[in-house]
Amino acid sequence: MERTRVAVYPGSFDPITNGHIDIVDRSLRIFDRVTIAISTNGDKGGSLFTTKERLEMIRDVFSGHGARIKVDSFSGLLVDYADGVGAKVIIRGLRAVSDFEYEFQMAMMNRGLKPEIETLFLMTGESYFYISSRLVKEVVSLQGDVSGLVPKSVLQRLLQKFKA
Ligand code: PNS
Repeated sequence: MERTRVAVYPGSFDPITNGHIDIVDRSLRIFDRVTIAISTNGDKGGSLFTTKERLEMIRDVFSGHGARIKVDSFSGLLVDYADGVGAKVIIRGLRAVSDFEYEFQMAMMNRGLKPEIETLFLMTGESYFYISSRLVKEVVSLQGDVSGLVPKSVLQRLLQKFKA
């Protein structure tokens, strides 16, 4: 029997951007199923959106993808979560060289914790090199235009947040 190839794509997704979506699309070319997993560890601190809001936004974006995409949240260690859902691969997107050091440290730590789980880096498409959730939030908070950097539904939620 052929094994199903499952990967976990973890992150804060506060909020999901077109850069994240590009990485999910690339992952679906390699894996049968991708679980997008929102880490809730940072929730006490500075997230703009609650976990529930982030889950809703991501589910909305991928509503047409059927069973190949699952959207979930997790607390605790990522490698334990990946193990629990039967994923042997963690996907991370790389934009510029500046991402590398942080990503390298995380990948090595995760490898030390669970050597059987591999981290796979995918290069973001060049139109997305400069997008980050942090900058998107900053620009919207200062009344800048981020349409084209996030899905329409996310843009609406961002505008609501900063109007409130
Ligand atoms: O989108 P982000 O904020 O760069 O994602 C970071 C994330 C959520 C992947 C990372 O912080 C994480 O894996 N957190 C879960 C806790 C954990 O396993 N920490 C050790 C990883 S080295």
